[in-house]
Amino acid sequence: MKTVSITLALLLAAFGAGCSTTAERSRNLADPSVSGKTLALQVCSNCHGVDGNSVNPNFPKLSGQQKEYFVAQMKEFKGHDRLDPEGFEYMWGISRSLTEKQIDELASYFSQQKNNPDQAGDTLTQRESAGKFVFEQGVAARNIPPCSTCHGAEAAGNGTFPRLAGQHADYIVKQLNVFQRTDERPEGAIMKVIAHDLTSGNIENVAAYLSSHTTK
Ligand code: HEC
Ligand code: HEC
Repeated sequence: MKTVSITLALLLAAFGAGCSTTAERSRNLADPSVSGKTLALQVCSNCHGVDGNSVNPNFPKLSGQQKEYFVAQMKEFKGHDRLDPEGFEYMWGISRSLTEKQIDELASYFSQQKNNPDQAGDTLTQRESAGKFVFEQGVAARNIPPCSTCHGAEAAGNGTFPRLAGQHADYIVKQLNVFQRTDERPEGAIMKVIAHDLTSGNIENVAAYLSSHTTK
């Protein structure tokens, strides 16, 4: 009886250890043999959601994001070129040991996920209508070009121009303030010029419009 229970205990210990090492291994950001998709499901999902549709607005949605933009941002986190506080705090460590192949696979995975917009109503609220106007027409009096020129008519993005449709409003507001007030995203120099003269009202409106916008 004694031998049996010892064997069982050993077996359980071995099984338990085996399980955790397998799981640990697939969560290991410094193991180049782990595929981007596995990392997406095991690691990135904790903040960005399994399909890139994060619930918490502190974490940007990655679903449907442009692949080229995605890769560029990962390289900027990794190279410490993007240094806005949340990027620095969360993404520097995570991107540190990723290989180019893993980054490419991560970008493919998330770019192929369908974006779920935040509460898309059938009709636009007043705030969303005002935001749509800024997005499509810019603000002529202050020389602000239409956002759609670069981000696309439906805000789906294109290449290094990010998708904005369906992104969390809070995240959009935060990033527009980063561009407007800081040099923490130097690769976004063009956005600094554009965000410079946006009022806080313009920013709130355009963010409300974009977060609920669905691309066809
Ligand atoms: C612990 C939470 C956390 C985890 C895990 C995490 N991220 Fe992030 N990620 C963030 C935060 C917070 C931001 C927003 C940073 C900012 O505001 O600049 C972000 C931003 C990003 C961005 C930029 C999005 C944009 O629109 O510019 C990309 C791309 C990204 N993460 C990819 C990943 C990938 C790939 C993984 C997994 C390998 C991952 N993240 C894991 C928290 C996380
Ligand atoms: C001339 C082209 C251009 C125009 C016009 C433009 N953008 Fe951008 N925008 C960019 C580029 C390029 C980036 C990516 C910057 C980077 O790589 O850091 C960007 C990034 C952004 C981001 C950050 C997205 C993210 O996921 O972090 C937001 C938000 C944004 N733009 C909003 C707007 C709004 C709102 C307008 C209109 C008022 C606008 N943009 C007009 C080129 C443009």
